[in-house]
Amino acid sequence: MRLLVTGAKGLLGTDLVPVLQNSGYEVIAFGSSELNITDEDSIKYALTHHKPDVVVNCAAYTAVDKAEEEHKEAQRINDHGAGLLAAATKQIGARLVHFSTDFVFDGTSNTPYTEEDKTNPIGVYGKTKLDGELKIIASGARAVIIRTSWLYGHTGKCFVRSIIDGATKKDELRVVSDQVGSPTYSVDLSVAAAALIENGYSGIVNFSNEGIASWYDFATLIVKLARDNGVSVKCKSVTPIKSIEYPLAAKRPCYSVLDKTLYRKLTGRPVPHWMDALKRYIQLEFDQ
Ligand SMILES: NC(=O)c1ccc[n+]([C@@H]2O[C@H](COP(=O)([O-])OP(=O)(O)OC[C@H]3O[C@@H](n4cnc5c(N)ncnc54)[C@H](OP(=O)(O)O)[C@@H]3O)[C@@H](O)[C@H]2O)c1
Repeated sequence: MRLLVTGAKGLLGTDLVPVLQNSGYEVIAFGSSELNITDEDSIKYALTHHKPDVVVNCAAYTAVDKAEEEHKEAQRINDHGAGLLAAATKQIGARLVHFSTDFVFDGTSNTPYTEEDKTNPIGVYGKTKLDGELKIIASGARAVIIRTSWLYGHTGKCFVRSIIDGATKKDELRVVSDQVGSPTYSVDLSVAAAALIENGYSGIVNFSNEGIASWYDFATLIVKLARDNGVSVKCKSVTPIKSIEYPLAAKRPCYSVLDKTLYRKLTGRPVPHWMDALKRYIQLEFDQ
């Protein structure tokens, strides 16, 4: 089976491509400069030229705070671009794998969100991602939309790398403790995406690592594991703070745990716990 990956040089795309290759797929990987998902002609050319069986869309506008000012640009990529890709995928009879976010929810729940739960994004990024989901569904393309959360990986900026960087420079880190969710390792998400490609399901499916953490819990374990793995950590304490003490342009849901029952039922696969995933990630990052 031939797969065409868009946004292949981002955080997820970089880790996903080798996982798909190791799963036995032929993978054609395009970064943003090689395939722009907002350019209808270049999408059509790439899809008709390479004739993939599955298009895997990792391309997105992901700057959550900047999106509050750059609404049009976020909409152009996350909504319009996703729609163009879905239409072109349908036209060649291929399937689409698309990624979405826990930020489609408002965070007022206190039990894990299922795929059926009511969406209500509270920021521009989440709203544009939800619009993209709706456009894909309306296109009639055979598509699986994988909602995930709190993603970190081996490329680019992410929370884990920022915390480790901070911990090597500062005595104290102050981290928000009143937002909870599930940190997700890009390699585990990639394995889940490969399993869902194999399964062939169409619709929305949640995948994040198992368990619940606040950003403070997450940061505390990151610092501990970094120290355990030989990183020269200067930080002596991680202090819990309220979101109000760390103002950001975009509002975030204060609870965004995703229910993975459907994923387990479809694939029969276990969902690794976030602490186990973080241990594997840090061991790989600092493997000497
Ligand atoms: N990161 C998270 O915490 C998180 C959480 C939940 C869901 N997600 C979802 O997971 C998916 C992957 O996110 P990520 O973290 O890998 O994001 P990322 O690191 O920002 O990667 C996105 C990639 O898309 C590319 N891109 C942007 N505009 C494009 C366009 N018009 N055409 C083609 N490529 C374009 C970017 O290239 P340039 O850098 O060259 O612009 C970048 O390489 C996204 O759908 C995101 O919404 C992420």
